[in-house]
Amino acid sequence: MKKHICLLEGDGIGPEILAQGVDAITTAARKTGHELTFAKALIGGAALDATGEPLPSETVETCRNADAVYLAAVGGPKWDAANPEKRPEKGLLGIRKSLGLFANLRPAMLMPELAGACLLHPKTAAEGLDLIVVRELTGDVYFGEPRGIIMRDGLRTGVNTMLYTEEGIRRIAKVAFETARLRRKKVCSVDKSNVLETSRLWREVVIAVHKDYGDVELSHMYVDNAAMQLVRAPSQFDVILTGNLFGDILSDEAAVITGSLGMLPSSALGDDGPGLFEPTHGSAPDIAGQDKANPLAAILSGAMLLRLGLNIPEAASLVENAVRQALRDGFRTFDIMEPGKTLVGCRAMGQKVIENIGKAY
Ligand code: IPM
Ligand code: MG
Repeated sequence: MKKHICLLEGDGIGPEILAQGVDAITTAARKTGHELTFAKALIGGAALDATGEPLPSETVETCRNADAVYLAAVGGPKWDAANPEKRPEKGLLGIRKSLGLFANLRPAMLMPELAGACLLHPKTAAEGLDLIVVRELTGDVYFGEPRGIIMRDGLRTGVNTMLYTEEGIRRIAKVAFETARLRRKKVCSVDKSNVLETSRLWREVVIAVHKDYGDVELSHMYVDNAAMQLVRAPSQFDVILTGNLFGDILSDEAAVITGSLGMLPSSALGDDGPGLFEPTHGSAPDIAGQDKANPLAAILSGAMLLRLGLNIPEAASLVENAVRQALRDGFRTFDIMEPGKTLVGCRAMGQKVIENIGKAY
């Protein structure tokens, strides 16, 4: 089978980590009898520099014509002062909205190979951590209107609107319950319904959707408590269902306590059309171009692309197993380095993974 992928390298470490990801998924796809073709498009700061727009319309077109979109990272201090419409992040938010990617799946797990890098108390770490944040991605304060910096009562005032429709909540709740069915069948819906009307509606709709998923256990948690429980007892979570803003924060927290943000992949899916696959971490401009970045989150996002975006699960497993093997063999980038292990750069880590894919079966 032939599949076409749109590559969005973006900024900072983006190009170097994506190069490793592309090699890994090409090798795994070929091994399982599939051919991948690629087209690059501009996004973020790179697009701003080249065209003056963070998301040129050709990029949206190239993405729409692909079977999946593979993105690295956007942003950097160079563009921080830009007006809000001309920030690299607008490119990312824009592509999510344009492709209708409302469901963001962010798995966080503690790989036994990396237990030493985990930030949790050893007793807590020993209980394990294997959860997935199902974050709504096209609503909330990120997109709600009105927004802006306005004059009100003679004072400059910042305004954003937290906004969710019933339908917006229903469709992401379904994704969470469906995801839980493939895992340990537990959904914890995270909101702030003790304060926010948006959250009250959220909870009401989640409870209604749950009626069709009697086999899945549903609980609710306020977001402040959830932030605390994630470090206190993360093994209690299977699927965390939440909105865009809370999901942004909780997914970084879940990712970093596993030991490195550089390890965790994510996918963004809509009802139809291509999904978008990207590492959870940012563009790390401080180490860009130095061959220091950890490519594993990008490579594992490639595995998600193969599984969820192209429906080639056997190729996805090849990639995931190859990553585990590279870690078992003791190779570490500097962010996950521990005494006694072998320090490697971005390219060498990628090549170890690719060699392992080549050696499989
Ligand atoms: C993420 C990022 C983005 C977000 C930024 C870069 C706009 O933090 O994907 O989590 O807030 O969604
Ligand atoms: Mg974030």
